[in-house]
Order: sequence, then structure tokens, then C-alpha cells
Amino acid sequence: MMSEFSHSKADRAPLHYDPIEALAQHHAWALELVSQLDDSQLRTQYHPELSPVGWHLGHCALVEHFWIEEFILGSKADEQLHNLYFPERNFKQERSSRLPSGEALRRWLDSVHRRTLERIAEPPAPMAEHPMMREGYLAHFLEQHYAQHRETMCYCLAARRVGDHERADLPLSEAVRSDPVPSTFVRLPAGHYSVGTNGVRGYDNERPAHTVSIAGSELACSPVTNAQWLAFMSAGGYDSSAPWWSHEGARWLRATGVDCPSTWQMDRVGRFAWKGAHGFKALAAESPVSGVNFYEADAFAAWARARLPHEFEWEAAADLGLLQNIGNVWEWCSNTLAPYPGFRAFPYDGYSTPWFDGHHFVLRGSSIYTDTGLRRHAFRNFFQPHVRHHIGGLRLAFDR
Ligand code: AVJ
Ligand code: FE
Repeated sequence: MMSEFSHSKADRAPLHYDPIEALAQHHAWALELVSQLDDSQLRTQYHPELSPVGWHLGHCALVEHFWIEEFILGSKADEQLHNLYFPERNFKQERSSRLPSGEALRRWLDSVHRRTLERIAEPPAPMAEHPMMREGYLAHFLEQHYAQHRETMCYCLAARRVGDHERADLPLSEAVRSDPVPSTFVRLPAGHYSVGTNGVRGYDNERPAHTVSIAGSELACSPVTNAQWLAFMSAGGYDSSAPWWSHEGARWLRATGVDCPSTWQMDRVGRFAWKGAHGFKALAAESPVSGVNFYEADAFAAWARARLPHEFEWEAAADLGLLQNIGNVWEWCSNTLAPYPGFRAFPYDGYSTPWFDGHHFVLRGSSIYTDTGLRRHAFRNFFQPHVRHHIGGLRLAFDR
């Protein structure tokens, strides 16, 4: 099943990466978080798109318990745990009221984490021979799953800091000048490029590595900055009747009345502060804009007489070392998530297959909240076009 794992270009960075050590670090982070937050903070759903932090912690623990104890070792499923912590078994809005106390959650996490590390260190015979264990796949998978939910928990912590009482304490931002769009560009030559990976760390949707043909374009060296986004806003960017809005985008804009990125908060002198998991910071002119959805990113690109890059242009240019400033914001791409030729769902149908629906757009790169374990050029993040609770930004592409 996994015999074709090999070390391809995308695996260069984590060559000496120890997934077990990284998994143990995620465990420690989870326990720290569950003891730092009180019951109400663990239970509160801070954003309609985001489950409570306590749910994410329980979900990650159940995922490791499920794959090891139930799937590999064949022990009986605990239906109550499945019903609570598997997302397809419940509605997001129900999760809060069903969570255990923080103390009960902490004890359960601790016991699951300990057993996971024991099992991986000394797998009982049926586990040692299981295909999930080949090349250490299980540890790679569990660790990256934690990393994804850790990022989401950072979004929860950022969403929590919106109270008016906090607004009075916002750091006063500098008057950020608005920058016109042109920045510096690099040429991605037309040609055939290898994308995707066959490496053990690749998720099913990154596999297999294959060759694609690219027409050639220019890409911005860096993602669009806050100053450039301010220029867009000053130019009436958020006017839903402006020609740069797609039909769907204009409809979303009229329905929501959004007028700035989701990570921005007006301070008391009418300037913007930036809202993160650790509170507010002054908005930095040169930092990449974050907290914009696909519709906004697409509208900005049209306003700038540019377009969003296709995910393969992004990956090819990143592999060539052409792109700077990767790793602060996820970068929206022009295309939706689709299977690569020869795709096989692994380790379960639900990781990627449900999202090949034409309604999830790809984002590449990584954000300030992304663990090193997910920082690779082949990684494909994906969200529906209207959501903006995450660190989404963009980089411009030009057909010329
Ligand atoms: C790809 C970011 C939409 O983290 O919520 C997590 C991935 N899949 N657990 C997420 C995911 C299973 C997902 N996103
Ligand atoms: Fe998950």
C-alpha cells in the first residue's frame, strides 16, 4: 500500500525530522493549553466556523486512540467518544454543551497521549506489522494532524479577543501609508514542472508526484502587504458594485457588509490594529495582509490588473526558489481542490475526498501559526471561498 514512498524534492526540508518528538511536543502543548484555559474558555465557541478549543483537543486525542487502539489493534469503538469528537457525527453548534470538564478532559488526554507514545515506541506484534507503521507513517500522520488543529486553535484564541473592553486598550497604530500595488516580480518560465510528492509525509491529496505543463507568467516576489490592502480600501475596494468583484463575491459582500480584513480592528483614533492569538499588535505596513477570503483576494487581484496564481504555478515557483516571504500567510490560489491523477484516498476516505467538491479553494504556503511539520511546498490547504477566520492572504500573478 505504501511501498512507493520515496524521498522526493518536497521531502528535502524534513529529512531529519523526528515525528515522534514533534508529536510529544504537540501533546505537551495540548496539556499546557488545557490547564491554562478555564472550563468556560475550553467550552466556548468563539466563532461560528470554529469549534471550541476543548473539542479540538479531544478530537486530536480520539484520532490517535482510534487509529492505534481501534483501527490497528481492533479494540471496540467507544460510541460516545465517536459521537462527540468525530466531526461527521455532530453539528459544530452542539459541541460546546457536550464537552467534559477541563479537568476530566486533561486526565483523558494525558492517558491517551502516554499510551500513544508507548505503543509507538514498543508496538505490540499486530501493530508492528501493520501497513500504517511502515516508514513510521502513523507518527507522521498523527503529528501533522495535531499541527493542523493547533493552527485552528490559534484561530480560536485570536477570535476570542474581540470584546469592546479590550478595544480601549488597543495599541495605537502608526499612520500606515497606503502603497500602490507594484512590487517586484519574478518570471516563471513556461515549461514542465514536477508537483506533488511521493514522500511519507505527504497527505493523500499531495500524491502522487506528477508532471504538469505551465504556460509561464510573472509572480510577485512577496505576498500583498497591509499597506497595499489599505490602498485598495482607499480606492473603494469594498464597493460591491465595483467591476473587480465577481458575481459571487459581490453577493457575499452585500450580504455581510465586510469592509476590512478579519484580523483588523479599528483603534480609538480610527486606525487599525492587528488581532492575533496573543492579543493586538500595531498593524505593520510591510507585513502580508491576512484575514481575507477567496472573494476578497480575487477582487484585489482584479483591481490590481492581476490574478491569483494557480496552485501549480505557486509550487513550481517556490521549488525554484523564486518566491520570497513564504510562511506568514496562507496564499489563496485560483483553483479548487481536485485529486491528482492516480489519487488514492489514504488513510481514510474523509481526509480529502469530501472536499473535491468544487467549493474548496486551495491555499499554499503556511502561516505564522503553522508548525514546521506542515511547512512544505507540496502541502495543500483548502477552504470554502467565503470563510475568513484563518490567516489567508494572497500573492499576485500576471499573464505577461
Ligand atoms: C484543511 C484546514 C480545512 O484543519 O480543519 C483536520 C484539515 N482534516 N482534520 C482542518 C483537517 C482533518 C482541515 N483544513
Ligand atoms: Fe481533524
